[in-house]
Amino acid sequence: MKKVKLHDKQFRLFIESENITSKIKDLAEVINHDFHDKKPIFLCVLNGSFLFASELIKRFNYDCEVSFVKLASYEGVQTTGKIKNLIGLNDEIKNRNIIVVEDIVDTGNTIYSVSEQLKKHHPSSVEIATLLYKPEAYQKSIPIKYPAIEVGNEFLVGFGLDYDGLGRNLEDIYIIEENN
Ligand code: IMP
Ligand code: MG
Repeated sequence: MKKVKLHDKQFRLFIESENITSKIKDLAEVINHDFHDKKPIFLCVLNGSFLFASELIKRFNYDCEVSFVKLASYEGVQTTGKIKNLIGLNDEIKNRNIIVVEDIVDTGNTIYSVSEQLKKHHPSSVEIATLLYKPEAYQKSIPIKYPAIEVGNEFLVGFGLDYDGLGRNLEDIYIIEENN
């Protein structure tokens, strides 16, 4: 069984790259069907989505555009705590069909914040494509229409996902070991 150590934590192999690619191919077929005449903009949320974005978007066979945004966390002055500001967004998304490309949807706080900020730029439609989705952890009502892989509540790394900055370059997905 393949294992990796990142910082102080041990991880074991969870989803092999062939399996990940095959799930992304399945998702790309659905998105090809739904968006063939919609000239979508794939809006990739950095950093985690970079590998998923490339594997997904190269399989989209019609006109599309690709753009990148990043979430910058800072402590808000209000008691609500952390606010995540979406940077890199502009009016290009007005009246366009947007596919947000994410690495993982967990509680949904991030994707909620992203969609609220997108709305201000008046896109025609917004759908979410995510490599990984944790339905048991999800606490929002925005539909996650295009998940490639549904997983449980465990912490994962690899294929773009990191543990404290490390692990994004792993071609397989690894799961944290219980006895860490
Ligand atoms: P949410 O806001 O709770 O949905 O979490 C979204 C963010 O938390 C993701 O974009 C990741 O950066 C991080 N995250 C959540 N779960 C994991 C995981 O299992 N591995 C690595 N990062 C994660
Ligand atoms: Mg992320």
